[in-house]
Amino acid sequence: GELIPFYGPHQSGIATPVQERLQFAAFDLSTASPARVAALLKVWTAAAVRMTAAQEVGRGATGRATAPPDDSGETLDLDASRLTVTVGFGPSFFTRLNLRAPGPLKELPAFPGERLDPARSGGDICVQACADDPQVTVHAVRNLTRLAAGTATLRWSQSGFGRAASSSRSEKTPRNLMGFKDGTNNIAIHDRDKLARHVWVGDEGPEWMYGGSYMVTRRIRMHLDLWDRTPLRQQEDTIGRTKREGAPYGGDEEFDPVRIHALPPRSHVRLAHPDSNDGRRILRRGYSYSDGNDSRGRLDAGLFFIAYQRDPETGFIPLQRQLAARDALNRYIQHVGSGVWACPGGVRRGSFWGEALF
Ligand code: HEM
Repeated sequence: GELIPFYGPHQSGIATPVQERLQFAAFDLSTASPARVAALLKVWTAAAVRMTAAQEVGRGATGRATAPPDDSGETLDLDASRLTVTVGFGPSFFTRLNLRAPGPLKELPAFPGERLDPARSGGDICVQACADDPQVTVHAVRNLTRLAAGTATLRWSQSGFGRAASSSRSEKTPRNLMGFKDGTNNIAIHDRDKLARHVWVGDEGPEWMYGGSYMVTRRIRMHLDLWDRTPLRQQEDTIGRTKREGAPYGGDEEFDPVRIHALPPRSHVRLAHPDSNDGRRILRRGYSYSDGNDSRGRLDAGLFFIAYQRDPETGFIPLQRQLAARDALNRYIQHVGSGVWACPGGVRRGSFWGEALF
C-alpha cells in the first residue's frame, strides 16, 4: 500500500492528496500541566509515525498473555491506506496550559443563522485522521484515545466519507451530498505559490507555527429533504454551476473560468469566489457525513467542512461573514458544530508535535 510520509516541513494531511475517509476527534485535556501534555504529544507522535507506516503501535497487537496489547489489532492485516494524522490546538489549549496562543488563534465570532451544539464544538486538541479505509482511520483515533488516558479525553468525534474536496485536477472531482462537484476551484496541492500565500504560516510566526496552518472545522447539516424537492434549475442557480458538468454559468466545462458577473448574485460560488473576496482563498478539505436520522425521519447528513488558511481573520471569517449574510445556499444548510485550531509546522525526525511550544 501507498504510504504518505509523516515527517516533513509541513504536517501531512493538509496539502497531501485527499483520501476517501475521515475520522476527526476533539479532545479535552484533563491536566493543566504542560509537561504532561508534552509527554502525551511525544507518545502520540511515536504512535502516528508507526501507524502511518503500517506498523503496530508500541510493542504490537499481541505479546504477553497477561497484559492488554499495545495495539488494538484491527489493522493487523491491512496496509496504511495513505493514512495521515494531523494535529491542531484550540484556543482553550493555551488558556488551560497557561501558554501564549498565536495571535491569529481566537475563538470564531458568531455568524447569523448558525446553531452550534457545544457537544459538537471546540476542544483543546484535535486529530484529523484520513485514509482510504475507515478501519484504518478509526483504528488511528481509537489508539490515540487509549494512549491519552489520564491526560486527555475524547470530547466529540466525526467520521466522514466521499472527500467533498479535490486536491488536484488530475483526479475526478468528487460530489457532495447535494450532488454537485465539490472542489473544482480549490487550491491545488501542487500549487506552491498559492499554498505559500494563502495556507502556510510564514515569517509572521510564532516560530513553532512556521510551515503550519490554521484549520477551521464546521459541521454543516444539509436539509436534504428540502433540497431534493427543489427544481434542478433552482439547485443550479443556488450554486452558480451546472449539476452534471459542474460548469460555471457562462461557461461550458467544469474548469472554465468563473466570471462572477455571469452567476446569480446570491449564488454560492459567486459569493465565495476570490473576485468577490479581495483575492482571498482557503484550502478546503472537507468530507460528507451521514449520522442516522432525526425523530422526524430526516437524515442527519451534510458536510463536515474543513478549511486550512494562513490566518482565519483573512480566510474563513470574512468569507463566512459574506456567505452567512447572503448565500442562497443558506435555505438548505445550517452550521451546527465548530472548531478553530492552530496546526503546527511539520515534525522533524527526533522531534514531536508542538515540541517548540514547551
Ligand atoms: C465552492 C458547495 C460551504 C467556500 C463550492 C462549490 C460547491 C460548494 C458545489 C463549487 C465547486 C468548487 O469550486 O469547489 C458547498 C456546500 C457547502 C459549502 C454544499 C455547505 C454545506 C462552504 C463554506 C465556505 C465555502 C462554509 C467558506 C466559508 C467555498 C469556496 C469555493 C466554494 C471558497 C470556491 C469558489 C470559487 O473560487 O469559484 N462550494 N460549499 N463553501 N465554496 Fe462551498
